[in-house]
Order: sequence, then C-alpha cells, then structure tokens
Amino acid sequence: MPGASQATAFAPASVGNVGVGFDLLGHALEGVGDRVTVARGAADEGIRILGIRRDGQRVDLPLQPEANTATRGLLRFQRDQRLPALNVTIEKGIPLGSGMGSSAASAVAAVVAANALLEVPLPRQALLDYALEGERVASAAVHADNVAPSLFGGLVLCPTWDLPRVTRMPVPEELCCVLIHPHLSVHTREARALLTPEVPMGRLVEQAGRLAGVITGCYTSDVSLIAAHLSDVVVEPQRAHLVTGFADVKAAALAAGALGSSLSGSGPSVFAWCTRDCASRVRDAMVDAFGTHRVLCDAWLSAIDAPGARVVEQRT
Ligand code: HSE
Repeated sequence: MPGASQATAFAPASVGNVGVGFDLLGHALEGVGDRVTVARGAADEGIRILGIRRDGQRVDLPLQPEANTATRGLLRFQRDQRLPALNVTIEKGIPLGSGMGSSAASAVAAVVAANALLEVPLPRQALLDYALEGERVASAAVHADNVAPSLFGGLVLCPTWDLPRVTRMPVPEELCCVLIHPHLSVHTREARALLTPEVPMGRLVEQAGRLAGVITGCYTSDVSLIAAHLSDVVVEPQRAHLVTGFADVKAAALAAGALGSSLSGSGPSVFAWCTRDCASRVRDAMVDAFGTHRVLCDAWLSAIDAPGARVVEQRT
C-alpha cells in the first residue's frame, strides 16, 4: 500500500533537564504541542514552507527550509528516503522562547508526519537523529532532552552519545507535573552561552548524586527519594536571574507541597513535580507568586508519563 499523500502530526511540548539532568533528562507534557502537516508537492524535489501560524496569526520564523528548526531534519529525511517535493505547514501551539521545547516539537512533528508518507514507515527510533537536526539550528548544540521525550513520550534518559539506547523510564503513578509559562522570553542559545564551562568537583559529585537519586526513585517508585534529590545545584543557580520572580515561584511551589521545582529547559517556564492531590494548590501558588512580580502566566497540569508524538490526520 502506498504511503499517505498528506499527513499531520502532533508533537508535545516537553520539560528539558528536569532540574538534575542537564541535557540528559526530559519529559513530555500533555495538552500543549505543535502540529505539522507535510504533503507531497507537485515539483520533483525541495521543501516549501507554506505557512507558520500561532492562534491563526502568522509567526515570524524563517521560511527557508535550511534555517527553520522544523524542516532542517526533514531535508535530510527527504533525501535519504527519496521523497518527492514536500509542502509543509506549521501550527505552533507552544509559545516561542518558552523553555517548553518549542523548536524540538516542530522538528519531531515534521518527521513523524513525513514518515507517514513512506510506503514502509521507519521505526520511531530511526526518526530521532533527523529530529535532532533542528536543535543544531535552535541552540547551536545537540541535546536530546526535548526532542526525545516529544518523540517517544514519557520521562526519557537521553545522553546524545548513546542515542540508540535512549530509555523511557517508569514514573511513580501518583506524580504529575505543574508547568508555568510566564510571559517572558529566554533564548536558549544565550542561556547556554552564559554557563560556566567548569564545575567544581564537589558540585559535580552532588549533582551526579541528585540525578542518580531521582532516577532510582523513579525506578523504585520512591517519592520521598525523588523529593530529597530533585534540586539542581549546577545550572539553575546560573540561570535563575533570567526569570523575574523565579526564587519566589520556586519557594511557593515547595511550600505548597511540591517535591521539587526548577526551570523548564533554559526557562523562563518553571516546572514543579508533585503528587496529584496537591497539584492545583501548587499551580495556584506558583501563578500567585509570579503575580506578585506583575508577571502574567499560563499554567498546565500534566502527567509526567505523557504521550509522545502521533499522526492525527492523514490522506491517501
Ligand atoms: N538542555 C537544554 C538547556 C534545554 O538547558 O539548555 C533547552 O530547552
């Protein structure tokens, strides 16, 4: 059976780093993501971006396929899979510069949609490297902590030196994530550039222990172990000043019962992990804390083990 002539895929937003796992750990979010439609075009080759919209409005992002995070990987996918010309339409559901994996979600949705055009679609794992191309454009470094959870769903351990064995981890049933997006903007590239290249040995050991504690807590369903370790002692202290009110928002989350709270990716969004019974209280406390700094925000409650990208529409 020939592949589809047109497919639309949805890819979820994600929380990069999860505090303790800089560039190594990320999880998908539910209820917010990007949609990309890929259709066979009339010409023999090439990719045309027909439009990029958010809430029906045109978004000011590059329309050249090499410069756009959503289509950069798609160019190589198209070449490798000998696909004909492709027309691409991007609907951004994720705010730009939000620390919610916006560029990663578009890149993931693009390759997942294009994969549905193949007579024999590639396995999910084979799409990871294509989707990662977009991160090279967005942050001048390859890190998979947004792309991998957006593609596979759930909480994913994703060291870039071992991509074939990227692992979706178990998550204790009672946990969920509160994600607050303040109406501020942080550029990942700049937020990476300000990080010190050297970490003192003592701090490196502490951070390694904290990552190990969170992973062990997830595998053993030990919520108190996660709570004892979910704190970033390396990257957050260097970026906290980028987000107005961050210290108060984090303190409010912890006071309301969160296990831990930190920047989502490079910020400005802030996440908190908590048990489901106190999620609304944690969300309200965080929104109020941003409010005292006169910062408006949007909020989501999400499973941590949220579903990954999927085809939502296709035509033969
Ligand atoms: N791990 C990346 C960073 C995520 O913190 O720079 C960016 O969303």
